[in-house]
Amino acid sequence: MFSKDFAWGAATSAYQIEGTAPADGKGMHIWDVFCAEPNKIFDNHVGKYACDHYHRYKEDVQIMKKLGIKSYRFSIDWTRILPNGTGKVNDEGIRFYNNLIEELLENGIEPYLTLFHWEFPYELYKKGGWLNSECVNWFSEYAKIVVQNFSDKVTKFITMNEPQCFLGLSYLRGEHAPGLLLPLRDTFHMAHNVLKAHGMAVKVLREYAKQPIQIGIAPTCGMTIPYSDKEEDINAARKALFSMNQDIYNWTWNVSWFSDPIFLGHYPEEGMEKYASYLPEISKDDMELISQPLDFMGENIYNGVLIKAKDNGEFEVAGREPGYVRTANNWPVTPECLYWGPKFLYERYQKPIYITENGFCCHDVVSADGEVHDPNRIEFTTRYLRYLKKAVEEGVDVRGYFHWSLLDNFEWCQGYKDRFGLVHVDFKTQERIIKDSGYWYQKIIESNGEILED
Ligand code: NOJ
Repeated sequence: MFSKDFAWGAATSAYQIEGTAPADGKGMHIWDVFCAEPNKIFDNHVGKYACDHYHRYKEDVQIMKKLGIKSYRFSIDWTRILPNGTGKVNDEGIRFYNNLIEELLENGIEPYLTLFHWEFPYELYKKGGWLNSECVNWFSEYAKIVVQNFSDKVTKFITMNEPQCFLGLSYLRGEHAPGLLLPLRDTFHMAHNVLKAHGMAVKVLREYAKQPIQIGIAPTCGMTIPYSDKEEDINAARKALFSMNQDIYNWTWNVSWFSDPIFLGHYPEEGMEKYASYLPEISKDDMELISQPLDFMGENIYNGVLIKAKDNGEFEVAGREPGYVRTANNWPVTPECLYWGPKFLYERYQKPIYITENGFCCHDVVSADGEVHDPNRIEFTTRYLRYLKKAVEEGVDVRGYFHWSLLDNFEWCQGYKDRFGLVHVDFKTQERIIKDSGYWYQKIIESNGEILED
C-alpha cells in the first residue's frame, strides 16, 4: 500500500517546456547556444519554443488539477533569474516562478523545485564552467537567490538533476550541450566540483530557508535486476549496481561515484583504486562539504540490465532476449527495475526515496477521433508501478513518484521527436490534449494506486 500522503506527481524541466527565446531579461545558457549550431539536434529542432509554458503555465496547472496530480517537479532556469549566472538579478524571472508557484499552491499542488536541470549559464561556461573551481561559489550564489525568493512557499528542493547525464553526455560523449569531448581527467575534476557545488548549495539552502525545508538530489543510472531469484544472482545484481567495473569512457554512468560521497561521505573504494590518477586532490573538508545531510534521495529510473552471478563470485550482464520490448526511442522496458532499484538504494543509503522521474517515449498520434490513445504507456506504467508497490510493501521507504513527463517536450538532442508526455502537445499550435494515459494516471492517483492490481 502506498502511504496516504504519497506524492503522486509529474515532472518537467525549464528548457524542455518553457520556451526561452531570450525574453523578459533572460540570459543565454549553453543549450541556447548549442541548439543554434547546425546538426546538433534532431532535424535542427530548437528548444526556444518548446511548450510555451512560460506563457501558458496557468493552462498547464489547470491540466494538472484536472488529473488530480498532487505534486509537481519543475526546474528553474538559472539564466532566467541570473542572466549572467552571477551578479544582477532579473526580477521578471523571479516574478515568473513566483506566479507559477502561487498558481500551483492555489490549486492544491505541491511544488518540488529543482535548481539545476542543465541550463548552465553561457557567461560562466566561458569562464571554464564546471572545470573552474569557482563554480562552487557561482552555484551557491544562485541557490541563495532561489531560497531567499521561494522558500516562503516551497519546502521541497532538489539541487541537481542527473549529474551522470550532464557530465557524461555533455563532456565525454559530446552529444549534449556544450558538445565537448574532454579528457577523462577533466571530467573527474568536473564531477568533484559538481559534488562540491551541490554540498555548498545544500548549506546555503538550509541557512537562508524561511521555514523548515527538505532537500534532496536527483541522480540517475541504469538499475540492475537479478537474472533469477537465486541468492547468488540477487547478490550479484546488488554488487553490480554499485560497482565501478565498466567501460571507463562511460564512467559517469554510475551510482556509487556520485551517491557514496553525498550519502556516505566518501568515494567508493573500488573507484578510488581504479581512478586515483585521474582525480584532483581531495581534502577532508571537501568530503564534509559534499556530504551535507540530505532529507531524501531522488532517483530517476527508466530501465535496468539483467545481472547473473559467475562461478568465480563476480558478475556478468546477461544478454536480453531476442525481440525484447523497447520504447519508441529504443530503451528496454524492464518493469522490475522499479522494485530492485529502490530496494538496493535504500539498503545502501537508508534515505527516504522519491522516484523523481520514470516514464516512456511512445509513438503517440492524434487519432481520427481527436483523442490520443497510448495503450503502451498505460501498460508500461502499470507494470512498473506494480513493482514499485511491491518495494513499498516490503518496507522500502518510497515517498513519491513523478511521472516523466507532464507534457510532450523538447527531448534534448532528440528534439521534439520523442514524446514522453501524459499530455500531447502540438508544437505548432500549442494545443494540449490529455492522452488516455493522463486519464489513467488520474484514476491511479484517485485510488492511491489500489487499482494497479485489477
Ligand atoms: C532524464 C532527464 O532528466 C530528462 O530531462 C529527460 O527528458 C528524460 N530523462 C527522458 O530522457
